[in-house]
Amino acid sequence: MSSNQIRNGSLDATLRPEKWDDYIGQRSVKENLSILIKAAKERKQSPEHLLFYGPPGLGKTTLTHLVAKETGNQIKITSGPAIEKVGDLASVITNLSPNDILFIDEVHRLNKSVEEVLYPAMESGSLDIIIGKGPSARTIQLELPPFTLIAATTKISLLSSPLRSRFSGGVFKLEFYTEEEISEILRRSAKMLNIEVDNKSVFDIAKRSRFTPRSANYLLKRCRDYAQIHKRRVIDLDVTEKVFSLLGIDEIGLTKADRTMLETIIMNFGGGPVGLNTVAASLSEDKGTLEEYNEPYLIQVGFIERTPRGRMATQKAYEHLNKEISSNDRSLFNK
Ligand SMILES: Nc1ncnc2c1ncn2[C@@H]1O[C@H](COP(=O)(O)OP(=O)(O)OP(=O)(O)O)[C@@H](O)[C@H]1O
Ligand SMILES: [Mg+2]
Repeated sequence: MSSNQIRNGSLDATLRPEKWDDYIGQRSVKENLSILIKAAKERKQSPEHLLFYGPPGLGKTTLTHLVAKETGNQIKITSGPAIEKVGDLASVITNLSPNDILFIDEVHRLNKSVEEVLYPAMESGSLDIIIGKGPSARTIQLELPPFTLIAATTKISLLSSPLRSRFSGGVFKLEFYTEEEISEILRRSAKMLNIEVDNKSVFDIAKRSRFTPRSANYLLKRCRDYAQIHKRRVIDLDVTEKVFSLLGIDEIGLTKADRTMLETIIMNFGGGPVGLNTVAASLSEDKGTLEEYNEPYLIQVGFIERTPRGRMATQKAYEHLNKEISSNDRSLFNK
């Protein structure tokens, strides 16, 4: 590993807030979690099971680590795709120590048979394991130490309702951040990276961050790279402008991929409604990527509407892309 890689790896780690107070925004989620953790601590119990959901990069993993830190409990990390078989889950769960936190990322990718074994583990702290096959098969029940399951997903709609209902501590939705919150995150990150960013540029980066801390930090680091190469001591609007034009990111943070998606709906499908599968096929893009990465922000800024008949570009989208609404376009605008 080169020294550069080492430095980059540790940079990512340093940008992740390590203290509860450094986790900016998400006030209501934080307040609820604080009460839950304090109350469980007073009772000398593990907090109940928690589910965090929301688009990528909003801070689900970070929050999980902070909950572990607040409770003072150990965290064991795994993910939906890593637990393929019931046996994989059994081995993860039986290896937990009392009061451990088990983090299952991408929990929507757990398969049905694994989910079914997880239910009694979450509910009554027991694990039902079937030994043998056919008529001689028998079930043994293992008592588990108390533990807290924290799960995260970007796709809450794919979670079965029996699983969802077993997160007795609560199901928490992480919201997009405000520009002020993102600015605060950027200032903190700049300090950690030891770089100077003037006020206007902080807001300029925040404006293009898709209200998402991960994107904000990503853009800040690209500005840092540019400033470093061009021997600029301070990141100012001149630097941000150059960087955003190089990256193809517009004044509200749309990437080229976002704009192409909107343009396809407008130019090829008369503004919609059109199914996401059709849009994906027309772009030769993966539907999941559009759904997970592009669409949430486009909906958030009011450029796409989800209707029962498919996705529709809004008037705001037409205006942003400087497109005329033609008479052939859907009737919404002709009303
Ligand atoms: N509330 C916050 N305050 C400050 N920084 C944050 C906050 N939330 C996230 N970040 C920053 O954004 C980065 C991405 O957050 P994180 O990895 O927790 O997102 P995630 O929701 O788990 O994303 P994914 O769905 O892709 O797993 C973190 O490393 C951290 O630097
Ligand atoms: Mg994560």
